[in-house]
Amino acid sequence: TILVLDFGSQYSHLITRRLREHNVYCEMLPCTQKLSELSWKPKGVILSGGPYSVYWDDAPHVDPAVFDLNVPILGICYGLQEIAWHFGKNVHAGEKREYGHAYLKIEKQRDGHVDRLFKGLEDDVEVWMSHGDKLSNMPEDFAITATTANAPFAGIAHKQKMLYGIQFHPEVTHTPKGRVLLRNFAVDICQCKTDWTMGKFVDQEIARIRALVGDKGQVIGAVSGGVDSTVAAKLMQEAIGERFHAVLVDNGVLRLNEAKQVKETLTKGLGINLTVVDASDRFLGRLKGVTDDPEKKRKIIGNTFIEVFQETAKKIAADAAGSSRAGEIEWLLQGTLYPDVIESISFKGPSATIKTHHNVGGLLEGMHLKLIEPLRELFKDEVRELGTNLGIPEDLVWRHPFPGPGIAIRILGEVTPEQVRIAREADYIFIEEIKAAGLYRKISQAFAALLPVKAVGVMGDKRVHDQVIALRAVETSDFMTADWYPFDGDFLKKVSRRIVNEVEGVCRVVYDITSKPPGTIEME
Ligand code: XMP
Repeated sequence: TILVLDFGSQYSHLITRRLREHNVYCEMLPCTQKLSELSWKPKGVILSGGPYSVYWDDAPHVDPAVFDLNVPILGICYGLQEIAWHFGKNVHAGEKREYGHAYLKIEKQRDGHVDRLFKGLEDDVEVWMSHGDKLSNMPEDFAITATTANAPFAGIAHKQKMLYGIQFHPEVTHTPKGRVLLRNFAVDICQCKTDWTMGKFVDQEIARIRALVGDKGQVIGAVSGGVDSTVAAKLMQEAIGERFHAVLVDNGVLRLNEAKQVKETLTKGLGINLTVVDASDRFLGRLKGVTDDPEKKRKIIGNTFIEVFQETAKKIAADAAGSSRAGEIEWLLQGTLYPDVIESISFKGPSATIKTHHNVGGLLEGMHLKLIEPLRELFKDEVRELGTNLGIPEDLVWRHPFPGPGIAIRILGEVTPEQVRIAREADYIFIEEIKAAGLYRKISQAFAALLPVKAVGVMGDKRVHDQVIALRAVETSDFMTADWYPFDGDFLKKVSRRIVNEVEGVCRVVYDITSKPPGTIEME
C-alpha cells in the first residue's frame, strides 16, 4: 500500500487514481496524519501538492516520523518543498510563478538509485508545472535529477536514501508520461504489488463503512435511479443491509414510468431497503403558475425535496427505533464523485470536508447528520465499473444523467400535469429510438423538451394548432462543453413521425443544433 498524504492540492485524488490504474492499492489521508495512529505500514509515501508555502508560520507539515519510516518517499510540488524544508529549509518564493507546460531535462546518473524515478523516460518530457516557490539550493546529500528552463531543481533525490522530489505534477494528463513515473515509484522503487482491482475496492469500502457506522448505526440516503446514487446505495446495502434506508422521492417530474422502474430494480433486483414517497401533487402544486423563471423552478423543487426527505427521514427513524434494527439514524449517504469534490481541504479537519451537492444542499443543516460519501474518490467510469461489479443492471449503469429538477426544466413555460405528460411521452419515444439504433452509449445525454409555443400543422384532413417538441442530444466528456449529435436524416425522420403520431398535443418536432457553449445542455 502506498500512503498518499494530502496537502490539499486540487490534483491530490488524481494521484490515487493513477496508482489504481496501475492496480496498486493506496490510501489518501490528511497530511497531518499521525503515523503512530496508523495500523498498517506503507511500502511508500507520496506527499501531494498544496496551496501553501512551506515557510509560512501556519503551513501544514507532515509528522516527522514519516522520514524515519525507511520507506521510499516521493514529494510532488509542495511535497518536494516539504522534503527540502525537512532537510534544510531551503525554500523561498520564486521570482516568477510557473504555471503550465515545461520540458524536462533528466540528469542521467551513472549508477545508484537517484534517477530510478525517470526510468524509461527520455529528455524533453513534457510536464505540467504549477507552483510559485523554489528551492534556493540543495539540501545536503541531495542530487539534482531533472531541470527545466525555469526550474533548476525540477527533480531532486537523496544520494543514499530513497527520497525523491519533483516540482511538476505527474498525476495530471498534461504530464503525458507521468503515469510511467508514478509506476516507477510505486512498482519498481516501492515494490508494491499490482493486484488491486475494483473487487478489492468493494471489500475495502464495505469494511470502511462498517467501521465508520458501527454495529447499530443507521444511514439514510436519497436515490434517483441514476448510476451514482444507485451504486452508493448498493454499497451501503452490502455493508449494513437493512440499516441503510434508501428514499426515492417521486417529484412528479421524473421520466415516464421511472419511479416504478427504479423501485423494481432497487428492491427486487438489488435488495435495497427502499421507501418510495409519491409527492407529485405537492411538487406540481407549487410549480403551478411559474412560467418563465427557471431558477424559481429549481428552488421550488430543491426546497420541496428537502422538506419531503426530512419528513420521510423522521418517519423512518421512528419506525426503526421500534424495530430490531434500533439505533439512531445519524448518517446521510451522498453519491458525490471526485469531480464534485472541487477542492480538497481535508486536513483542516472533518467539518471542513463536508460538501453539499447541488441537488441536496441544505439537507445537512436541517438534519444534524454526518455525511458518508463512499464514491468521493472515484471518477464516473470507475463508478460504472464498480456498479457492474456490484451486479447493477447494464441499463442503469449506463443511464444518461438526469437533473434533479427533472422534466420541469425541460418544459419551457408552466409545468402542468398535461405538459408533463407530453414531455414525458415524447422523451420516452426519443430514448427508445436512440437505444434501438444502438446510439445510447455514444450519446452522453439526450432528451425531449417541450417548447412554450404552438405551431400549425395538418393531421389527417384537419388543421391543428399544437405544441412543438425540441429534441436535444449531445456528446461530451465532462459536461462542461458539448457538441450536438449528428444524427442521420432517416433517424430523425422516424423519431419525428413517431412523436407526432403517438403523442397527443404535438404537431411539430425540431432538433436543437446548439453546442455548449454558447448553449447549455439543459434548455433552462
Ligand atoms: P447544463 O445545462 O448546465 O448541464 O449544460 C450540465 C449537466 O448538469 C445537469 N444539470 C443539473 N443537474 N440539477 C442537477 O442535478 C440541476 O439543477 C441541473 N442543471 C443542469 C445537466 O442535466 C447536465 O448533465
